[in-house]
Amino acid sequence: MQTHPRIGIKAISVYIPRHFLSLDTLAVVTGVDPAKYHLGLGIRRMAVAAPNEDPVTMAAAAAHDLFARYDIDAATVGLLVVGSESGVDAAKPIASFVHGMLGLSPDCRTFDTTHACYGGTAALRLASDWHAVRGTRTGKVALVIATDVARYPVGSAAEPTQGAGAVAMVVGGDPEVMELDPFPEAVYTKDVMDFWRPHYRREAIVDGQVSIDCYLRALGHTWAAYEQSSGLCWDDYDYLLFHVPFPKMAYKAFHMLHQREVLVRGASGAGLASLEDAFIARTQPALWVNAEVGNIYSGSLYLSLASLLEAGGPGVQGSRAGLFSYGSGCCGEFFSGRLGPRSTAWEGKIGAREAMESRIELDYEQYLEFRRAGARMTLDGSFAAGVARPVPGRFSFDGIRDHQRVYTTAQEDLGRDWAASDARASSAKAQIGK
Ligand code: CAA
Repeated sequence: MQTHPRIGIKAISVYIPRHFLSLDTLAVVTGVDPAKYHLGLGIRRMAVAAPNEDPVTMAAAAAHDLFARYDIDAATVGLLVVGSESGVDAAKPIASFVHGMLGLSPDCRTFDTTHACYGGTAALRLASDWHAVRGTRTGKVALVIATDVARYPVGSAAEPTQGAGAVAMVVGGDPEVMELDPFPEAVYTKDVMDFWRPHYRREAIVDGQVSIDCYLRALGHTWAAYEQSSGLCWDDYDYLLFHVPFPKMAYKAFHMLHQREVLVRGASGAGLASLEDAFIARTQPALWVNAEVGNIYSGSLYLSLASLLEAGGPGVQGSRAGLFSYGSGCCGEFFSGRLGPRSTAWEGKIGAREAMESRIELDYEQYLEFRRAGARMTLDGSFAAGVARPVPGRFSFDGIRDHQRVYTTAQEDLGRDWAASDARASSAKAQIGK
């Protein structure tokens, strides 16, 4: 009998910007019934990146916290892949900046993967394949980070689905968080224009209904392909996780799979829980952070996984999750894995609940000013020493000087000096208040 090496996610941590806009605030400005946002889309708040935060600083912060929380030696990283829709340079990858900020070894292959929201999954799948071929021999692990700022035009129907954040994962052997099932891949690719962002724009263009149709088509195709390649069926999954552009989309996806299962079982529907009961049991526990953060594109599926792990604790260990990833353009993939074996591996280390507890609410004007200031920061010459830093912390984007992005790294924090970091946090908070 052929045996497969046990490969998967050994550690997972999230970074979520501190600032948020309540969708109640947005509803007042847009004149939309807040219930449309809360129930129609399933979102309550959106995380907003501060002007000195970008996909690089968020990725570095997520990975820095991951190393600290799980006590991982950065020298063991032999591959760094960053999945992102929102690259900061046409040539230099986010991974390259992050490699420097984290002080990783030069013996580390470093690059980005881009395919809208699929970039994080491309990175994860590639990292697990890499580990099977190389990592098992060298003892090295892969660092995978999904990081994005989701931006749509002000006043557009997509604006309430915005979000920002990063998820960092270590991928390697004997995984303690999620062992990936070793079945052949189930993917779907089609050249479509459902969501895109030309180089000259900061905000994405989307055909909302087309994007929903493409998402569901990719799900139907990959579900069927995975059923065939793995032999797994509906009853084999304790949890079903989806790419979450907004939580209601996960409901639509679940609904489609449930309807399909109804057809498979015939009129009696023998043993199949009702749509609502099945959704509450299998998917809803994985959506609470997404509802508070919004779409983080490449990281949204993994934010959903983080939600489930944090909420589920020992209750989810040993269970099987099916995961569907979707990137517009488009590429979809369905895969699965087993959580655990023990929740002690991740308890207190993911950071989502902690991030929810120390948030700062923006009013609508502040939200607009963050957007404007963020755009100004990407112009050459925007760099100014002592620039106001709404977000204190370990990594800060300070603007562009001589065509180069300038980042500040609080080196002392790399020695895990949390007290110093917290002191800076309070002092900067006080400055914003002035
Ligand atoms: N109370 C409760 N619900 C209400 C309501 C009210 N007062 N008013 C409206 N609703 C409901 C509607 O019935 C609808 O629900 P259903 O979809 O279940 O019918 C829901 O709120 C949305 O309302 P609309 O149909 O009027 O849609 P909209 O014009 O607000 O646009 C959207 C919604 C298309 C998702 C838009 O937000 C958008 O374009 N988002 C970005 C694109 C996107 O996320 N696509 C998802 C698939 S692509 C992908 O996943 C990749 C990615 O990350 C971008």
